[in-house]
Amino acid sequence: MRSRKVTCICGMGLALFQGSLTACVLFEKKETALPGEVSVAAVEDYELQVQASEASEIHANMARRREAAWKITQESFTPVEVRTAAGDRVQVPKWSLWYTTEDFSIIYKSFLESLDRKFSTDQPPSVIDVQSQADETLRVYRRRELNLAARAIQEDLSQFSNPLSEATREAAERNAVVGRGFMLFSPSLIRHYLVNHDRVRSCRPDLFPAAADPKLLRAAVRPRDPDNKYAMCFDSEFPADAVMIKAVWSPAYRDFRKFHTDAEGLKVFWADDVGNGRFHRTTESLVKFDAEKGLHLHNDGTDWVLSGLHISTKEVPEWMWVSLWWAPDADEDFGADRPDSLVKQNPYLAHYKMCVASTFRERDPDPGAHFRGNEKTASLAAALDVNAKNLDGYQWCANPFLENGFAKSNCVGCHMAAGDKEPHNFPHTYTALRGNGLADFLQSFNTFKFLMGGKSKVNSGARSSTQLPDE
Ligand code: HEC
Repeated sequence: MRSRKVTCICGMGLALFQGSLTACVLFEKKETALPGEVSVAAVEDYELQVQASEASEIHANMARRREAAWKITQESFTPVEVRTAAGDRVQVPKWSLWYTTEDFSIIYKSFLESLDRKFSTDQPPSVIDVQSQADETLRVYRRRELNLAARAIQEDLSQFSNPLSEATREAAERNAVVGRGFMLFSPSLIRHYLVNHDRVRSCRPDLFPAAADPKLLRAAVRPRDPDNKYAMCFDSEFPADAVMIKAVWSPAYRDFRKFHTDAEGLKVFWADDVGNGRFHRTTESLVKFDAEKGLHLHNDGTDWVLSGLHISTKEVPEWMWVSLWWAPDADEDFGADRPDSLVKQNPYLAHYKMCVASTFRERDPDPGAHFRGNEKTASLAAALDVNAKNLDGYQWCANPFLENGFAKSNCVGCHMAAGDKEPHNFPHTYTALRGNGLADFLQSFNTFKFLMGGKSKVNSGARSSTQLPDE
């Protein structure tokens, strides 16, 4: 038995986060749990794992794609040292310290105030001034005080209020919590919003045709800048090290479905023609979350397990869409090729499976081939073979804890509608229904735009890189 050093912190002064919430956080030095209140010396950037030149190989080779996705996971989970309220030093995954949209709102206000203080309408800031101010503002917010546990489970993801979600319906019937979660954004993603603030605010999605008519969409709006195809509400697409995270935590006290993502389970999944894909039809068993076997946290008397995590990075033009989910048989199928180095760095990641998509079309003629003939990865090959038979040449990735209800998807198709008037409304989620995009696949764009209601008094030199349709 391995020895455990357990510490308990009872935090009272959490008014900032949730009124009377009291968090008692158990964590051990082995870092299987997120602590509660911490102070962070420096929020760290994401380090690139994929070069732009590797994109076509990644689209064309499933082994390369999965290898890149595990590297992205490892980098995002790099342990960063924080100090707890009790003064202990503990390590938490890099992504857990990134910014929420609420953080952004605070950062954005401070950024605007600085611009107004330093510049005037007579002497407006240049583009370079705006960039330096963005860097300066972000430097300040790299040091922060946080309650990781409270923040993680603060709200129901809007996904779980989506009537399409099977999980939502079931939970409503049982009056249970399906999952709580958050979205987080890397420093460079936040910086891109600051630098583009004028352009984002003045962008008018209503000038762009609705998603219903793809032909119209292709014809009507052409980006002037061939390098900016997908971010027409910005001067340029997001930088390669921009990362967005969506995490879901499920209460560990109740039994949970084991999702059968092996070849047999996937055959049932694809044969089911109800809606846009529900994993639960493939399930036969209920299992108990074992909090020791996953990343967990304890808050207000309840244990929560990280059940699903999306990591999307702009390292390829249409983003890398990596998704991890907790599984009791995590060495099988989508976990069979998990590198040892990842588990060495974060032991609890031994309990997660992973899928990845890198664009719409599957350019690998035989995705399963790389994993056949090897006992360790044979179950992955079999699962990929079943997928390939059913995908009609498209890529696929969906998280059973997050995409239940719209799981016949590759992430990219649905996210392409980001910034549209009706961003949730793409009926077919594998194809590129439009040849351009407003918000570079960020479904949270409308939230950011809303938070950017405030405006600097000085014009910071917005430029237009987009040919808008005639009004
Ligand atoms: C049917 C549409 C749909 C599909 C399919 C989908 N998403 Fe999303 N995603 C959304 C919406 C809507 C949000 C907005 C946030 C929310 O849930 O409140 C979102 C949010 C996110 C975010 C947070 C940041 C942002 O602004 O977009 C990430 C990261 C993300 N999704 C990754 C993925 C990954 C990875 C997949 C595939 C495994 C996926 N999504 C599949 C609709 C979708």
